[in-house]
Amino acid sequence: MKESQALIQRVRRVNDTHQHITMSVDASLLQLKAGQAMLRRPDANGWQPYLPELWFPVALEKDMLTVERPLSEHYEPGAVVTLAGLLGKPFRFRRTLRNVLLIAHDTAPTPLLMPVQPLLNSKVNVTLLLLGTAADYQTTHLPEEVEIIKGGADFDWPNKLTTIGWADQVFVTVSPSSEMSSFRKFWKIFSELRSDAPAGYIFGVFQMPMPCGVGACDACLVKCRSGEVAACIDGPSLDLTDVRMD
Ligand code: FES
Repeated sequence: MKESQALIQRVRRVNDTHQHITMSVDASLLQLKAGQAMLRRPDANGWQPYLPELWFPVALEKDMLTVERPLSEHYEPGAVVTLAGLLGKPFRFRRTLRNVLLIAHDTAPTPLLMPVQPLLNSKVNVTLLLLGTAADYQTTHLPEEVEIIKGGADFDWPNKLTTIGWADQVFVTVSPSSEMSSFRKFWKIFSELRSDAPAGYIFGVFQMPMPCGVGACDACLVKCRSGEVAACIDGPSLDLTDVRMD
């Protein structure tokens, strides 16, 4: 994992809660694929977080990387941030894919957004399901081809059976404060309402603190049927059919 400095070029508010920060970055970060992340490290200018922050890009164009951050954070063009990456593995999309379901529950859908436009370009249908506080996330900046469905925090939404039956693959992100219990709930819903939920069908995108990002500190270990895996190395998206839900 290489640490480098990124220069903020543009800051654009995209809705009432989030902004897009476009940065020129080191060439090593331009290899990033949808599903991979970066760690924002303490800066030389004195910014000192309690833990490195997990940053998920939402777009990569030429030599510019764009991340989505809450509006409550302050960024200005010309500022420098320290990033470390690449973290984890890309999303494992099936080769033959028609319909993808992206779900955010009680958290912003940011970790799921980078593949949206490439999927649409490949004629894959994309539905974004926003549940609980995620329903407050305004979506007018997303491509209009994306189907948006909203629901409550109770894991219920309109046309649930149809949505689940229609999806070839599902990627879920949830509030880090209740990550395993929420993933367990989604796994139960999908495995009960769908007769076949094979390996590679439903993935959880883990967002727990990842202090080292290189598999050295054990902070991000997830129990899987094959043993414990580090989400910073094998994730952040992990196949929920493999994750131990007990
Ligand atoms: S963050 Fe240290 S092992 Fe994953």
